[in-house]
Amino acid sequence: MPSRDMKENEVRYDYTNMLEGAVGRHGVTEAELAAVTARTEEVFQTLSDQRAKGVLGFMDLPTDETTAGAVIKMAGALEGRFENLVVLGIGGSALGTIALKSALCHPLHNLLDSAGRKGRPRLFVLDNVDPDLVKAVMEFVDPKKTLVNVITKSGGTAETISQLVIFYEAMSKAIGRDAAEHFVATTDPQKGELRKMAAEFGWQTLPIAPNVGGRFSVLTPVGLFPAAMLGINVRQLLSGAAFMDRKCEPRDIEKNPALAYAVIQYALAKKGANISVLMPYSSALADVADWYRQLWAESLGKMTTTDGMVVNAGPTPTKAVGTTDQHSQVQLYVEGPYDKSITFIEVERFNNALAIPRALSQYKEAAYLNGRTVNELMSAEKRGTEVALVTAGRPNGTILMPEISEFTVGQLLYFFEAATAISGALYGINAFDQPGVEAGKVAAYALMGRPGYQEKRAEIDRVLGRARKIV
Ligand code: PA5
Repeated sequence: MPSRDMKENEVRYDYTNMLEGAVGRHGVTEAELAAVTARTEEVFQTLSDQRAKGVLGFMDLPTDETTAGAVIKMAGALEGRFENLVVLGIGGSALGTIALKSALCHPLHNLLDSAGRKGRPRLFVLDNVDPDLVKAVMEFVDPKKTLVNVITKSGGTAETISQLVIFYEAMSKAIGRDAAEHFVATTDPQKGELRKMAAEFGWQTLPIAPNVGGRFSVLTPVGLFPAAMLGINVRQLLSGAAFMDRKCEPRDIEKNPALAYAVIQYALAKKGANISVLMPYSSALADVADWYRQLWAESLGKMTTTDGMVVNAGPTPTKAVGTTDQHSQVQLYVEGPYDKSITFIEVERFNNALAIPRALSQYKEAAYLNGRTVNELMSAEKRGTEVALVTAGRPNGTILMPEISEFTVGQLLYFFEAATAISGALYGINAFDQPGVEAGKVAAYALMGRPGYQEKRAEIDRVLGRARKIV
């Protein structure tokens, strides 16, 4: 039985305004809903087959006490020793960590002094090889006060390894023999070059379960270790995920929020609303929307079904932030093509209640705000956008977050992971591979002269060698 606290902090999904009854013909009709929900048993059979094959490793994470214990122990042993934590990783090896920090740390965490950060390190996630960024971080952090967490499941992603080489050299020069204590490698438990390096240099390591893909790995040590270093309560995070896992068991869209989300998104995509906008009314959750973009795009954008039929499937996920993007994107959402659905994330209780003081009341643009709160304004803005969309016949839904805490963020992340797995089954595609990403990695190896990739290099040269049309 969930406790009263858990029920009070339950994340819920309201899809009323996704339906024809609320927004007219561009919403999901009863017949369309019935057609998709008729496939519920088939979808759950696919999931159960995938689970039996060990594909759905992400579903085991919320209750993986051993891994959580190892992460907490390592972070505890390192507590107070470092001013900076530098994460080297990209894609699924970075986006979850960025999302957790933004959601659950102070908004200006890296700008606070050590006391303000409660002795926790600043966090820099290098998820790009932009030379200006890498150099800036390199020069900013003092190697002696820095822990480097290099994260790559494959152990060979060029971006991450290039950064590792740079940091390894600089840290070894600055620190000497003890440099090994400044590295933690998070990678496959057995395979890959990073594991070999870690063994050779005596770096501490954390495992990524082989049956958990990068974009589903936020609740493995990939996301949990940096989170624990920042003082985020990873047990509460996992407990939120476990709570949502139980909520996603029923085979009924009126009881299972992930099933409802997947079914509605699928039904809308089938009638042309193939763009899925995630719009948190919260700056803290903006990076969760970035994480969602990768999860949804990389999982569902596939050329073929699992039985080989070419379908070029895939909804397009995109991100907006309320209220900021009301002044940027919402015009398009209200009046542009009927090719989108908007999913808001609404926070019911922010960590702070911020009063608007009684001042400047001689001005009418300020007077009506006097004595209200910024929280009320945020809520009014969200409701305003919702009404504008409903009036314009645009499907929209809301994920209700009672508060932003480890428990609710754990629920939110797991909700999207479960919805992605269900969507994969609805599309009939493999949501757990990423051949398109691998192709890009191979091309980078070839262009950088990695041995064994000469044939690929010749193919690339042929393509790049074509006469260019440049004006
Ligand atoms: O989700 C995925 O599988 C990818 O986005 C990977 O996370 C990304 O390519 C990085 O891979 P790796 O962790 O092997 O360096």
